[in-house]
Amino acid sequence: MDDRPIGVFDSGVGGLTVVKELHAQLPQEDIVYFGDTARVPYGSKSVPVIRRFSLEITRFLESQRVKLVVIACNTASALALDFLRRQTALPIIGVIEPGVRAAFRQQDARTIGVIGTQATIRSEAYQSRLQRLRQGCRVFAKPCPLLVPIVEENLIHAPIAALALEMYLQEFLSLDLDALILACTHYPLLKDAIGKYLGKNVRLIDSAEETAREVAEVLQSRRLEGTPNRIGLEEFYVSDSPEAFMKIGEPFLGRPMKQVFLEHVWKRDFGLSPDGAPF
Ligand code: DGL
Repeated sequence: MDDRPIGVFDSGVGGLTVVKELHAQLPQEDIVYFGDTARVPYGSKSVPVIRRFSLEITRFLESQRVKLVVIACNTASALALDFLRRQTALPIIGVIEPGVRAAFRQQDARTIGVIGTQATIRSEAYQSRLQRLRQGCRVFAKPCPLLVPIVEENLIHAPIAALALEMYLQEFLSLDLDALILACTHYPLLKDAIGKYLGKNVRLIDSAEETAREVAEVLQSRRLEGTPNRIGLEEFYVSDSPEAFMKIGEPFLGRPMKQVFLEHVWKRDFGLSPDGAPF
C-alpha cells in the first residue's frame, strides 16, 4: 500500500472536474492539486512556455512527495506530456488518450467533433489519435477560446455563454455528429448548454471519468494503491487568489474546498536554468 498523494494540475480551476471524478472512483487516495491561476490561460501560449510552466508545477508536486501526476489540462497534455515523461521518473497521465478512448467506448462513432483551446486544436493531438484508432472516421476540430473566460468568470448561465456557443457550434449542426469531445477541462461546466444546443443525438464526451479509470489501473499495476477504506484528504494550491479559486472552483468540484493555499511555483528554486529548462 502507498498512501502518498496523487498530484493533479491544471492551468486553473478546470482540472477540478478530474479531481471530482478521482474522488468518486478512488476515495481512499489523497490528492494535491495545483491550479496555475496566476498564469491561466495556457491555451493561447506557446509550446516552450506551456512546457516550462508544466515542468515547474511537476517539480512542485514532486516536492509534495506525490506518487503519480495527472495533467488535468488538455492544453498541457497535448503539448507537455511527452516532455514531462522525459523529465521525471513519476508516472504521468494526461487527459487526451482517455478522452479518445471514451469517444469510442460506447458506440461506433464515425463523425466526431472536437472543441478545445487554440493550442490543443493546433497541436492536432486529438485529430491524429482519433484517426489512428479508427481509420476513416471524420473529425471536425474547432478552437473555442472564449469559453474558458466565460467559465472562469462564472458566466455559464449568462446570455454571453449562449451567444458564444452559437457562434462556435453552429457549423456542427449540419455535420450529423455522433459525438463531440469536450477537449478542455473547463467545458464540462457548459455541458448542459452544449447538449441543449446540439441535441440529444450528439454524445458529449468529457475525459474525466476515463482519466480516473486510467489512474486506478496504473496505481494497481504499479502497486501504488492507497490503503483501502481510508478517507483521502485533499489540498489545493494556486498561484493567485485562493478566495477567487474557491468561489469559482466549488461548482466544478460540487462541494466546498477546505485547504486552499497560495504557492508561487516560479519563486522556488527547482534547479531550472534562468531562461528555461532544456527543451
Ligand atoms: N484547462 C485548460 C485545458 O483543458 C484550458 C484553460 C487554458 O487555456 O488554460 O485545455
